[in-house]
Amino acid sequence: MLVHEISQVREHIKEWKKQGLKVGLVPTMGALHNGHKSLIEKSVQTCDKTVVSIFVNPIQFCAGEDLDKYPRTLQEDVKLCENAGVDIVFAPSPKEMYGEGHILSNDFLTYVVPPYFYTDKLCGKSRVGHFDGVCTVVNKLFNIVQPDFAFFGEKDRQQLIIIQKMVRDLNIPVEIVPCPIVREESGLALSSRNKYLSEDDKIHALALSKILFNIKNCYKKGVTDVQALSETAYSFLNEHHSLEYLEFRDENNLEEKQTADESTVVFIALKLNGVRLIDNISLR
Ligand code: PAF
Repeated sequence: MLVHEISQVREHIKEWKKQGLKVGLVPTMGALHNGHKSLIEKSVQTCDKTVVSIFVNPIQFCAGEDLDKYPRTLQEDVKLCENAGVDIVFAPSPKEMYGEGHILSNDFLTYVVPPYFYTDKLCGKSRVGHFDGVCTVVNKLFNIVQPDFAFFGEKDRQQLIIIQKMVRDLNIPVEIVPCPIVREESGLALSSRNKYLSEDDKIHALALSKILFNIKNCYKKGVTDVQALSETAYSFLNEHHSLEYLEFRDENNLEEKQTADESTVVFIALKLNGVRLIDNISLR
């Protein structure tokens, strides 16, 4: 069932809670793909009721980013959700979420601001304020849906780690369920932004997963020096790629690693024909 208003969601939630039903939330920005589908399926399996939110959240986009051209495919998304057994698709307007004139300036909105230590690195370095926007909207969604479980993909692992931290720090009564990255057979991690890539770009985009798989291979063969592991990346990069970062960080608190170990996650971001792509891999 497609619902646009917060009050409608609340009515259903109230009824479900009265019946003691477990509620799962899958927060998304739509343009759903098999990665999202895997989160939805996990929620449908684990919970009595599943809510999927579809909201292209304006406050998590920085100036000059792709807010206007972000793919919006509501009809197809709703079909996918219905087929997967979703109970409510919550697709609010920006006005419904942020009020009249939906404020894009943080002068007029209470923000949830995660610690700088978590947001001044990786994607946060080039996307200043992005994670404030993410935490704020996720908090709002938690308050609206009051889920027992919420499902997040490991594809956006910095986001996942920051949301886990927020939930701990603010005692939000929800269990965050991390879900593994879904990849095409080629290795390319699924992402709504892959829609921006031409067939040719998609071939060059394989550098991300190739670099990560190769690093994990080298680590499993005994190489733990981060400098040495990083250097293996260069043979996969060419003039099409503009590398933004390749970093080795702790899976819990994003601290930098000099020596790779089982708790290390390797994060990569690069630009390909103006499209920014990210990926990561756990060395465990
Ligand atoms: O991962 C996303 O799609 C978004 O950042 C999220 C969590 C739905 C918040 O807008």
